[in-house]
Amino acid sequence: MKYNNQKVLITGGSSGIGLALAKKFMENDNTVIITGRNLSKLETVQKEFPSIHIFQSDVTDDAEVRMLADDIQEKFDGVDILINNAGIMNLVDAGNEDNDLQKLMQEIEINYNSPIRVLHYFLPQLKKSKNAVLINTSSGLAYVPFAQAPVYSGTKSALHFWTKGIRPQLKSHQIKVVELLPPVVDTPIFDNVGSAEESKFKPMPPQKLANLFWKDFIKGKEEITPGLSSQLKLMSRLAPKYIFKQLNKQPIPTTNG
Ligand SMILES: NC(=O)c1ccc[n+]([C@@H]2O[C@H](COP(=O)([O-])OP(=O)(O)OC[C@H]3O[C@@H](n4cnc5c(N)ncnc54)[C@H](OP(=O)(O)O)[C@@H]3O)[C@@H](O)[C@H]2O)c1
Repeated sequence: MKYNNQKVLITGGSSGIGLALAKKFMENDNTVIITGRNLSKLETVQKEFPSIHIFQSDVTDDAEVRMLADDIQEKFDGVDILINNAGIMNLVDAGNEDNDLQKLMQEIEINYNSPIRVLHYFLPQLKKSKNAVLINTSSGLAYVPFAQAPVYSGTKSALHFWTKGIRPQLKSHQIKVVELLPPVVDTPIFDNVGSAEESKFKPMPPQKLANLFWKDFIKGKEEITPGLSSQLKLMSRLAPKYIFKQLNKQPIPTTNG
């Protein structure tokens, strides 16, 4: 495996974990391309890091993802490392019939369906690379659901199982599959959330997360569980009911999705 001079695409790279990973890959002399829906956020990042490449592209839009793959093929002759990172989180009270159903479906579309879509269109490029890696950002909540965000937890657990399922399949095409399962990280994902539950956990700074990721990534680890996520993994096996209760003392959110 090579960890520098690679072409790296990060979906949702304009803030938080994606941006921290982008910085880490740039520090290690890689060509980094980031995407997001909001162009001004991408341009702000590019002002600070002129060497970064930006593409406005919505992971849920099939035509846009196809066009992104075509553009990257043309301009960069393909990618080596694809990071499915774009994601959102809604707090939802499943007992409320006034929930916005479209918003709930959109969360599944972004967090679970889109990594499958993005891989689909970038598969030919990964197959051509001599150093192909797919990295999926799921969550420590893939091990233990956070009741206040039930759709989110479901998408991350689905992403976790999809990742495990495709790993041996893509191995035969020389594509390494890595999963990053972050703990609570201090990012804008919580901007519209405001939950009492999550404030119990001290969020990890995004750059610390990126440093811990990098250490394990260059060791060749396939399932990367920084901080509290490694405890969630262990406890989900040893004492699943106990850890579920600990995480979910207040199962119903004060704000709705
Ligand atoms: N923060 C945490 O505690 C935590 C913990 C575990 C896992 N994660 C996961 O880490 C990943 C990154 O989250 P974050 O915490 O860094 O949040 P964030 O700062 O809000 O970043 C999310 C990124 O995804 C982009 N995005 C959202 N929807 C998109 C779409 N439809 N198409 C393209 N880009 C889209 C956002 O840009 P635009 O809004 O401009 O599109 C932004 O760049 C997510 O998958 C999240 O579930 C986060």
